[in-house]
Amino acid sequence: MNEKQPIVQLVDVQKFYGDNHVVKNCNLDIMPGEFLTLLGPSGCGKTTTLRMISGFEKPTYGEVRLGGQNVDQIPPFKRNVNTVFQNYALFPNMNVADNVAYGLKVRKRPKSEIKKRVTEMLKLVQLEGFEKRKIAQMSGGQKQRVAIARALINEPKVLLLDEPLGALDRKLRKQMQIELKQLQKKLGITFVFVTHDQEEALTMSDRIAVINEGEIQQLDTPQKIYDEPATRFVADFIGESNIIDAVAMGQDGDFLKVGTENGQARSLIADPDIKTGDAVSVAVRPQNMQFSLEPVDHFSIKGVVSDHIFMGHMIKMIVKLNDGSTVRINRFGEDELAPVGQVINLYWEPGKSRTFRNKSWFKTNSVVDLQEAVDEANATHF
Ligand SMILES: Nc1ncnc2c1ncn2[C@@H]1O[C@H](COP(=O)(O)OP(=O)(O)OP(=O)(O)O)[C@@H](O)[C@H]1O
Ligand SMILES: [Mg+2]
Repeated sequence: MNEKQPIVQLVDVQKFYGDNHVVKNCNLDIMPGEFLTLLGPSGCGKTTTLRMISGFEKPTYGEVRLGGQNVDQIPPFKRNVNTVFQNYALFPNMNVADNVAYGLKVRKRPKSEIKKRVTEMLKLVQLEGFEKRKIAQMSGGQKQRVAIARALINEPKVLLLDEPLGALDRKLRKQMQIELKQLQKKLGITFVFVTHDQEEALTMSDRIAVINEGEIQQLDTPQKIYDEPATRFVADFIGESNIIDAVAMGQDGDFLKVGTENGQARSLIADPDIKTGDAVSVAVRPQNMQFSLEPVDHFSIKGVVSDHIFMGHMIKMIVKLNDGSTVRINRFGEDELAPVGQVINLYWEPGKSRTFRNKSWFKTNSVVDLQEAVDEANATHF
């Protein structure tokens, strides 16, 4: 197969359960050897998307292609795809070797071949010598490895993993993340990995599809998704962001002048369609939020420091704004912070902010009201 051709393609795929529009116009090309993650909150359609790739579910509209071929008529067991389920779905009464051997037994492979392959697979997932162990006597992480070995023995071209690390404690989860990633690179198999844990997605993936309410909001590398979120949802869901509702007040050099109920600011435009008067959201990461005791050009947002929260590796400073909302600033030492009760001027490098058109907010607020509030904030002192 041509290396440049996607191994998995979803073309205009939509899925309805009754009236429930669960997957909305999904277009996704997954390349051979890629580690692609579907990331999104509970109920956004991740499992449904995986099930359409594996063939356990059919798209209502659109098509799924594997290796360039429409697989509409091909049942799950004939697709070159295997799934590792969240609950592992192991056979509790069989020992480890019999669980791993299952796929080859079903295909009636010779006993000697099965034995050899099972040994190879257990070595691969670092469970040599566990052949005769009962599943009930294995730890969570070990069961996880058995489930992966059982899927890999079928030599799938694509491995689908549905929240495979969900049941593990944090430490083991971190360890398995590294192991899985190494295994994937070593075998060169395409992984389609599902998680709702953004940190997990950022550390493991070649590319991430961020999904909300059945819609891919952004499909990009972890770095791009973090640094250049394409929508307000992505900015909020990936990492931590201060999201400030504002109104676009016109171009200001390379940047956008925005007015908030707490004063004016400058920001970087993420959406080229933004026009003066539009309701927007400005996203600023807590580590990029700056403050000064002196007034700052182009910014007039003041706040009062209300708390310092010790987080171990950093300190979070909470700042209360005029309208009651809060802003978070991350710093590494107490000496980089202002004391509680201090009035400060907030600002940021416009290049380190992102501005999105705010559709949902637009529905519930009148821009005219906000414009009045902005004028008032500009006219009055804190
Ligand atoms: N067989 C089904 N029949 C009807 N509705 C379904 C079915 N399977 C899923 N749904 C609905 O489709 C939506 C998406 O479900 P899905 O399981 O794909 O979400 P998910 O992103 O995997 O969520 P989670 O992170 O909680 O596993 C949900 O609203 C769910 O209730
Ligand atoms: Mg799911």
